[in-house]
Amino acid sequence: MTAILFEPVSLGALELANRVVMAPMTRSRAGNGDAPTDLNVEYYRQRASAGLIVTEGAQPSANGKGYCRTPGIYSEEQVAGWRKVTDAVHAEGGRIVVQIMHCGRVGSHLNKTPGAETVAPSAVRARGQIYTDQQGMVDFDEPRALRLEEIPAVIGEYRNATAAALRAGFDGVELHCTSGYLPAQFLSTGTNRRDDAYGGSAFWLLVLR
Ligand SMILES: Cc1cc2nc3c(=O)[nH]c(=O)nc-3n(C[C@H](O)[C@H](O)[C@H](O)COP(=O)(O)O)c2cc1C
Repeated sequence: MTAILFEPVSLGALELANRVVMAPMTRSRAGNGDAPTDLNVEYYRQRASAGLIVTEGAQPSANGKGYCRTPGIYSEEQVAGWRKVTDAVHAEGGRIVVQIMHCGRVGSHLNKTPGAETVAPSAVRARGQIYTDQQGMVDFDEPRALRLEEIPAVIGEYRNATAAALRAGFDGVELHCTSGYLPAQFLSTGTNRRDDAYGGSAFWLLVLR
């Protein structure tokens, strides 16, 4: 068992030094402009002996941010910060992919840059509260339902974030599609009350899209 765990393995296009994969964990340590800092570099460098690191969730847009101080993966400042992270991990022989996490309705405007919005398939507020640096625990925002014509641009945010990730030197991306975040909100009847092409039966949504 031990011998297998520490043996190299191919994972798609990636050659991993061993079979230890680090799960994504939000750390809320990004700096100005939601860009990774030296603290993030050190954190990932320390863990680079894993065969593969999946980073903490990183928002593909200002709207996609839900929690305080999470890093983005869309601006050039963020790309520069992440580049230091990927260089550090690669220098230690590790591999690293970034997790793209659009929180959708799970968030507070207090955690976002001014002007950014909490958006979701439908205006269904999540139950519970979320931490903010300004006011401590607050209720989740009531999200604004995305208009039909806005949805291609949100999909485009994932595409842009992937391009940014490649510029930042990542070995790939992981799309966060569970845990009640935006893709899961589209796939749940509790949070998706739409009657357009992005609503209705999840079965048809999966087949037709
Ligand atoms: C503090 C913390 C932050 C987390 N952040 C993320 C995240 O950003 N993305 C994600 O997919 N999962 C996140 N998770 C979930 C973990 O990756 C992991 O799947 C979860 O803890 C279950 O793993 P376990 O069964 O080994 O405990 C987080 C978990 C914790 C405890």
